[in-house]
Amino acid sequence: MMKIPLGLLAIIAGFLTVAMFTTAGWDLPPTDDVQTGFRGTGMVQIDDREQVRLEQAMNQVPEAPWELDTSGPRAGDVYENVQVLGDLGEDQFTRLMIAVTEWVSPEEGCTYCHNPDNLADDNVYTKIVARRMFQMTQAINSGWDAHVAETGVTCYTCHRGQPVPEYIWFKDAGAVPSEGMLGYAAGQNTVSIGATSLHTDPFSALLNDDGEIRVEATQALPSDHVASIQDTERTFSLMIHMSEGLGVNCTYCHNSRVFNDWAESTPQRMTAWFGIQMVREINQDYLEPLTGVFPEERLGPLGDVAKTNCTTCHQGVNKPLLGAPMAADYPSLWVPPQSAALIPGSSVPTQIRSEVVSE
Ligand code: HEC
Ligand code: HEC
Ligand code: HEC
Ligand code: HEC
Repeated sequence: MMKIPLGLLAIIAGFLTVAMFTTAGWDLPPTDDVQTGFRGTGMVQIDDREQVRLEQAMNQVPEAPWELDTSGPRAGDVYENVQVLGDLGEDQFTRLMIAVTEWVSPEEGCTYCHNPDNLADDNVYTKIVARRMFQMTQAINSGWDAHVAETGVTCYTCHRGQPVPEYIWFKDAGAVPSEGMLGYAAGQNTVSIGATSLHTDPFSALLNDDGEIRVEATQALPSDHVASIQDTERTFSLMIHMSEGLGVNCTYCHNSRVFNDWAESTPQRMTAWFGIQMVREINQDYLEPLTGVFPEERLGPLGDVAKTNCTTCHQGVNKPLLGAPMAADYPSLWVPPQSAALIPGSSVPTQIRSEVVSE
């Protein structure tokens, strides 16, 4: 075996050390710090400037097709089968259809949701989904201002020019109890969230069902509040998802001295709390009821529909699209959804499933 003399090793190590401090890529990138909590608590958000530039480039919003004009006859009177957007002026309706095409199916065009021979036809599953999505977007903007504030959301916030949003989740087969005791990993010990081996699916219990996120005891020797290690790991798993989804660290919301204390938390933690409730509503009231409308290939391994988490909208930044107020150009997306009767169920033609428009 060849032996490398110790002196040579020392010289190489010396060169590497010099390189570490002098060449690009080895030194600390320029950063900006924003203090988020009381001084001395270490509550500070550190942003890499290069990363911020990248984020700005990735979060450009499409321009509105033209200036809003709400005059003219109502779409409900002009067209045959307009059930949600009937109050819009004709011009406003066309403007929205063009914008939606750019947001959801720019490559496929109008026919992604429409039968080109008859735009009133409801036999295209994507149109049924889109109609419900209009109501969902209206519900988010009109009912969840405690979370989305004046910024609001459009279809683009989640879709970004793709029919299927990039960041979605399905129930994880690995997190479902098996019949016997053996082989049940409880969704743990698989490297996933934040490169940890914590629970792989904190979402089913905490962002779809109304599972308990609070795990810390509030008194010594608790008797009324006992969380298992699994519950605790699931909470941590969700917290890591929330941090990654927003591109922030834990101290953006918590004082790590005492995670459960609301008085020592930032206002953003309250916004996040409303976000959790909002995501549950999106999944429970809008996406899950659409399960029967989607074709098989859109469903997950356990037959459930694709669902939303924080990353679906946020995509790595604290405010989706860096807070760009694009939804302000579309007042029709801010009215409370009118009829709740549109949850597709038995009234949805069954042939939709077989006549799927696939990408
Ligand atoms: C992402 C899905 C989607 C895309 C893309 C889309 N539409 Fe629509 N369109 C709908 C939905 C949903 C309705 C029904 C709205 C309602 O019930 O209030 C509708 C209704 C219509 C109607 C009314 C038809 C009638 O007589 O009832 C017209 C006209 C229309 N769209 C035109 C277009 C045009 C033109 C384009 C392309 C520029 C387009 N749409 C792209 C989803 C879409
Ligand atoms: C909160 C995020 C979110 C918003 C906002 C949103 N969507 Fe969706 N959309 C989803 C998710 C999640 C799915 C399910 C993905 C799939 O199709 O499997 C979906 C699916 C769809 C599909 C079916 C695509 C396919 O190929 O299966 C259409 C069409 C659609 N959305 C239209 C819209 C329209 C139109 C709007 C705005 C009025 C909108 N969406 C707003 C999250 C969103
Ligand atoms: C965007 C804001 C936000 C970020 C970032 C965040 N959390 Fe949380 N955290 C919350 C909210 C909101 C709750 C309370 C949920 C509830 O009450 O249902 C919570 C609850 C918790 C709890 C349970 C407290 C209790 O009462 O039992 C722990 C522990 C926790 N977070 C740890 C963390 C850790 C560790 C991180 C970083 C990996 C983190 N959090 C990042 C918002 C955040
Ligand atoms: C439907 C899209 C959507 C989803 C899903 C969503 N958010 Fe938000 N969130 C927004 C919008 C829009 C804003 C910007 C509101 C504003 O301008 O103040 C926002 C703002 C926030 C803020 C305030 C940021 C700041 O710097 O003030 C926090 C914290 C936050 N979201 C946490 C979450 C968490 C945690 C989740 C998942 C449980 C989540 N959000 C899911 C749309 C969403």
